This record gives sequence, C-alpha cells and structure tokens, in this order.
Amino acid sequence: MKRVCVTGAGGYIASWVVKLLLSKGYMVHGTVRDPCDEKKNGHLKKLENAEERLKLFKADLLEYENLCAAFEGCIGVLHVASPVPSGHVSNPQVELLDPAISGTQNVLNACLNAKVEKVVVVSSASALLVNPKWPLDQEMDESSWTDVEYAKSIQHWYAMSKTVAEIEALEYGKQHDLNVVTICPSWVVGPMLQSTINATSLILLSYMKDEGRPGGDTIENVERPYVDVRDLSEAILLVYENPTSSGRYICSSYLVKTKEFVEKMESMFPGHNYPKIFTEKSGRAVLSSKKLVNLGWSYRPLEETIIDTIKNYEELGLLEKGRSFPS
Ligand SMILES: NC(=O)c1ccc[n+]([C@@H]2O[C@H](COP(=O)([O-])OP(=O)(O)OC[C@H]3O[C@@H](n4cnc5c(N)ncnc54)[C@H](OP(=O)(O)O)[C@@H]3O)[C@@H](O)[C@H]2O)c1
Repeated sequence: MKRVCVTGAGGYIASWVVKLLLSKGYMVHGTVRDPCDEKKNGHLKKLENAEERLKLFKADLLEYENLCAAFEGCIGVLHVASPVPSGHVSNPQVELLDPAISGTQNVLNACLNAKVEKVVVVSSASALLVNPKWPLDQEMDESSWTDVEYAKSIQHWYAMSKTVAEIEALEYGKQHDLNVVTICPSWVVGPMLQSTINATSLILLSYMKDEGRPGGDTIENVERPYVDVRDLSEAILLVYENPTSSGRYICSSYLVKTKEFVEKMESMFPGHNYPKIFTEKSGRAVLSSKKLVNLGWSYRPLEETIIDTIKNYEELGLLEKGRSFPS
C-alpha cells in the first residue's frame, strides 16, 4: 500500500490533506508536535479509516531525527507545516524564519535519508506577490518571485520565510536529485476539521463578529485571491500523484474584494455582525492557476465555499454570542 507522510498533520490545510489521503486508500504518517494534545490533534483520530491507516509521529520541524523516524517507509512526503502568524511577530527569526527555512531543510534532508521518491512543499502566494517589479496590469504566473530583500525591508517576515524556504527547496531538489515540487496557494478559506482556529479562518470569522475586528464596523476593502481548502488538498494530491508535475504551481481560484465577499456572506447568512464601512485599499493580485488547471485541477464555486464555511462555523458554535476566540 502507498505510504506517505504529511507534516503538521493537525493544521487546517494538512487535516484536509490527511482526510483526502485516507479516503484514497493511502497509509498515512502524520507529524505533529504533540500527539497527546487532543485539542489540536484529536480530530485526526476521528477521520474515516484513521484507526487502521493513520499513524501520528511526534516531530518538531527543527528535530531532524524525529522527522527521519516519521518518514521511514514513506514513498512521498507532503510538507505542509510552517508557522502562519495571526498577530504581531516579536521574534521573526525564531517564530517564523527558523521553522520555515531550517525546518524545510530538515524535512528535505530527512526525505533523502528515508529514500523518499517525491516531495510536495506547500509554499504560498506570498512567495510570488511581494514583487514590486511585476507590472500591475499583468497576470502573475509562476515566474514571479517575492523580492526577499524588499520583503525584509518592509518586515513582511511571513513572505520572506515562505520565499526563502521555497527557493531553497527547489534548489535542494536539483542538487540532490530529489523530486521536489512546490505549490503556492492564495488565501485559503473553507470549513475547518480541527477544533483550534487557524489564522485565515480567524479573519473570516472577524467578518461576521466584531470580537477581534480591530476596526470595529470599518474594514479595508482589499482585492484578495482565494482558494477553498478542499480544492487545495485536491491540488496537493494531484501535484503529488501526477508524474509530469515539476517546479512550482500557483493554486488560486477567485479574486474578490472584501466588500463583495462580505456582501455574499450577508446575502446568504444575514443577521450577523458584518462590518458596515469599507475603506478602499489599493493593490491587485491577479494570479494565474493555468499551470495547475492544465495538470487537471478544477475548483468549486465561491458560493459553495461560503455556504459550507459558515455552516461549519455554526456547527462548531463559533457564531454564538459572547464566544470569543483564542489567538
Ligand atoms: N491559510 C492560508 O491562507 C495559507 C495560504 C498559503 C499557504 N499556506 C501554507 O499552508 C501551510 C499550512 O497552513 P495552515 O493555514 O493550515 O495553518 P495552521 O493550521 O496554522 O498550520 C500550520 C501547521 O504548522 C505546524 N508548525 C508550525 N511550526 C512548527 C514547528 N516548528 N514544528 C512543527 N510543526 C510546526 C503547526 O503545528 P502546531 O499545530 O503544533 O502548531 C500546524 O500544524 C503553511 O505552510 C502555510 O504557510 C497557508
């Protein structure tokens, strides 16, 4: 049976990847920082087929030996783990850059050690978007790279962490003859399987409740590229399974302004505490997923994402009055 490992298995995106792999008959290894943390990882054990085919391993990204143990016997690794900040970053080196960059290097070294055949590294659209040289009116494709020095100068540590990690991962693949493919998702939305709340879901929730909405009734009207977490998991598996995949892949479905997004939410689920005033914020990020679509990827309508997401928040009790969120 095909055996693969997913890093950071309990996270938002990784949980959907694990669920998809289990549904397709894979034996799945998952790395988590604390297998006994039921709040973070308990949902994984409840996934269909998990009892027979999911095994969790304790591994921080900075623990090479533990990663080696988790990858043993695996033909593929889907490297999803990397910190996604939901607030102020006080020590970027320790909180973001080390786990993203050294962590990815450890993952790749451990892949080589375990004779893994193919690695998919989940990067980010932020590894393309912070590129002041790209013409504003031109659709962005995989040839765009975030300018690392510029990202550093504006203290966009997340973009810097993802860009350096991705550049080094692709380089590592070439140098060590390891099949490394990267995928760059835009803003990921959709239902959550985990019971903690990840950074992007927290922002979507803040559109419906004013708890944690810094501007109160006022919100920035940003044009943002989105992708559904379930479509992204399909893309990760597609890139992994397709023998012709190579290089990097943008994974993004829709470009929507916040106002339009909120209005869609409100038209389908009225009565929540939606923001009322939108202040214009310039900047466009037209991303092309043509390369991924040519590989066979397709995505669901945005309305379906919004409906499923809000129903999921309702089921989890997140929209109840007085319910506040941990960061
Ligand atoms: N959400 C988005 O919009 C988006 C967009 C583009 C790319 N991505 C990328 O997608 C991946 C997953 O993000 P997500 O949205 O699913 O966020 P998430 O739920 O916060 O997942 C992040 C995962 O990384 C793990 N992690 C962080 N630091 C680690 C370390 N030092 N050692 C081991 N594991 C560590 C976390 O483990 P713990 O549970 O132990 O903290 C968690 O499982 C990341 O690579 C992110 O950059 C996300």
